[in-house]
Amino acid sequence: MASTSKIPLQTRNLPWVEKYRPQTLDDLISHQDILSTIQKFISEDRLPHLLFYGPPGTGKTSTILACAKQLYKNREFNSMVLELNASDDRGIDVVRGPILSFASTRTIFKKGFKLVILDEADAMTQDAQNALRRVIEKFTENTRFCLICNYLSKIIPALQSRCTRFRFGPLSQSQMIPRLEHVIQQENIDITPDGMKAIVTLSVGDMRRSLNILQSTHMAYGKVTEETVYTCTGHPLRSDIANILDWALNKDFSTAYKQILQLKTLKGLALHDILTEVHLLIHRVDFSLSVRMDLLIKLADIEYRLASGTSEKIQLSSMLAAFQAVRDIVVSDG
Ligand SMILES: Nc1ncnc2c1ncn2[C@@H]1O[C@H](COP(=O)(O)OP(=O)(O)O)[C@@H](O)[C@H]1O
Ligand SMILES: [Mg+2]
Repeated sequence: MASTSKIPLQTRNLPWVEKYRPQTLDDLISHQDILSTIQKFISEDRLPHLLFYGPPGTGKTSTILACAKQLYKNREFNSMVLELNASDDRGIDVVRGPILSFASTRTIFKKGFKLVILDEADAMTQDAQNALRRVIEKFTENTRFCLICNYLSKIIPALQSRCTRFRFGPLSQSQMIPRLEHVIQQENIDITPDGMKAIVTLSVGDMRRSLNILQSTHMAYGKVTEETVYTCTGHPLRSDIANILDWALNKDFSTAYKQILQLKTLKGLALHDILTEVHLLIHRVDFSLSVRMDLLIKLADIEYRLASGTSEKIQLSSMLAAFQAVRDIVVSDG
């Protein structure tokens, strides 16, 4: 169940997120302050228990794996590092079983400590976390733990306080672009500047997502452009949104409804994505302040309802109704 697999670099069919996973701490492109702190801990041989948290695709797993590679030579890696990830069970049995037995056995190769990496630790039950707390206390002498999660609030305070916490924030565009360019060059990809812009915009600081979009667009369409990126991710194009807004404001209700629904089905668009983009456009259309506020409030309500899993068709009607109401105001004003 526990995997301490090393990734063969040369495998051709590897997803790029694995193929281009940073191998050493120096390969990481962000969070320099965190990296230098950890380097310092390692070089002074006083690594504390660690807790990495923050949104996905920001380098948490890569950072600890790079640390582990720096700490342990190839042949001792498997006996010194226990890595539990999302595919492993998260109940109390894992803590009492594999984790406890790994932490409690003596180290053969080295006097130093062993390392337990608990990826996606926020999936652990409360019971498991409490049991883990006791294991951490008992074996601090010869084992270090690194907990990784997206949501800090899901880790019990007693565990949090035993670790040194590091927050991995989303990557900036200026950090992502050079890394993407490196991959583009290695893989010989034909990409336009607006294709690059689209990838960076859609991945909002998530490096994993940016690499996945790049790879899937390249595989599906060859050339990476704004259009192919948006189509590949099922995200509405700017021209789609312009059309939708145009229909909503200028066509009668049932025609607009039919046309939007048709476009939505044809391109496999999610109403949520449409709403996000329409909302941005509303800021740019020349509505009076009160009309704009009215629309924004209604769209926010729709977004809220969509998030709780309501019917897309009813919410689409509701969105059109919001625009219809605005039209009536504009007409009666004018
Ligand atoms: N800081 C970073 N520097 C370089 N590559 C990164 C960085 N963060 C993420 N990546 C890329 O995204 C992939 C996923 O990163 P990972 O460390 O698994 O993210 P997390 O564990 O935070 O979700 C990596 O394989 C790597 O290719
Ligand atoms: Mg991870």
